[in-house]
Amino acid sequence: MKNIVLEKFAEVFGDSEGAKVYFAPGRVNLIGEHTDYNGGHVFPCALTIGTYGVARKRNDKKLRFYSMNFEKLGIIESDIENLKPEKEAEWTNYPKGIMWAFGEKGFEIPCGMDLLLNGNIPNGSGLSSSASVEVLTGFILKDFFGFNVTNQDLALIGQFSENNFNGVNCGIMDQFAIAMGKKDNAIFLDTANLSYTYAPIKLENAKIVISCSNKKRGLGDSKYNERRSECETALEEIRQAIGINTLGDLNEEQFEVYKAAIKDEVRCKRAKHAVYENQRTMKAVEALKNNDVALFGQLMNESHVSLRDDYEVTGEELDTLVEEAWKIEGVIGSRMTGAGFGGCTVSIVKEDAIDTFIEKVGAAYKEKIGYAADFYVVEIGEGPVVL
Ligand code: GLA
Repeated sequence: MKNIVLEKFAEVFGDSEGAKVYFAPGRVNLIGEHTDYNGGHVFPCALTIGTYGVARKRNDKKLRFYSMNFEKLGIIESDIENLKPEKEAEWTNYPKGIMWAFGEKGFEIPCGMDLLLNGNIPNGSGLSSSASVEVLTGFILKDFFGFNVTNQDLALIGQFSENNFNGVNCGIMDQFAIAMGKKDNAIFLDTANLSYTYAPIKLENAKIVISCSNKKRGLGDSKYNERRSECETALEEIRQAIGINTLGDLNEEQFEVYKAAIKDEVRCKRAKHAVYENQRTMKAVEALKNNDVALFGQLMNESHVSLRDDYEVTGEELDTLVEEAWKIEGVIGSRMTGAGFGGCTVSIVKEDAIDTFIEKVGAAYKEKIGYAADFYVVEIGEGPVVL
């Protein structure tokens, strides 16, 4: 891939003298969905698929962007001194947002750059192609200008930019999973205080399979921000009854005692998901520690049911993928992953069942939904690197 992107850079920008090649992964969340903005736990991992970037400093303040995923758009020009989100060439709002965010945090970017990207994460699939671009850009800026920031800072700057430049009130999970990725490990992160541990993923004769619904969605136009504010209101109501900081502070029993404080049935279901999902995530990590992959899978299934019935972020496409997966022998667990409303599911599938899985789930999906799903057998990879 390194040669492919360098050659393309030379073709697009004249030559590739002095250009450097970088990579940042995508991520998949194994369990702990819609908990990261509720002070709960998440359990994501970085993937070996992600975004490749070629970058070169310029002598002026100009920015020139090119994406091999959106070739029709050609070169998009901008200026380091006038960074604002634009509707056209929406993808450039991610690198621009990071440059803006560094400025807001007091880091002065002294010159412009030419930047070419090529991602092999399906766009808008729920595998965090946008957070991958954000962390990649931050990593390039750090490398170019020697900014004193850690990878964890890159995650926080990514989230800051997504919240304030791109207008999506996302939590920290995606950027954190990508910036802090570790081969063959998932990250057990407490979003209340950013404490984390790495957990080796030993699935013994099983693999992680991603099923992509090909139903596109963007967080901006989804009901993501609405879910977040429903949880915030529910928290305010519960706080009338008990002094907690986040929904993640409650266990199931406490929730059942205090839920009467929530004055709306729908909000109550949203809060229930946040509380139960957080507890499920802790149990799932414990199960893995005890090598109980079957229990881990069962908790993944319960997570999906909760996201379907209480949080209501699945939809026919994701439900079909998951419900068809559950029918297949050799499937240890299956659930939607990421924000939902389209995007992907994650399944743990015994190696000898993977072909049947892809064939049967694929056929049933096409029959019911009318277009095909895509399947990826993925590996857990590292955070951002210079290639
Ligand atoms: C998106 C957001 C994350 C997280 C998930 C849901 O991926 O970017 O912060 O909230 O949805 O778990």
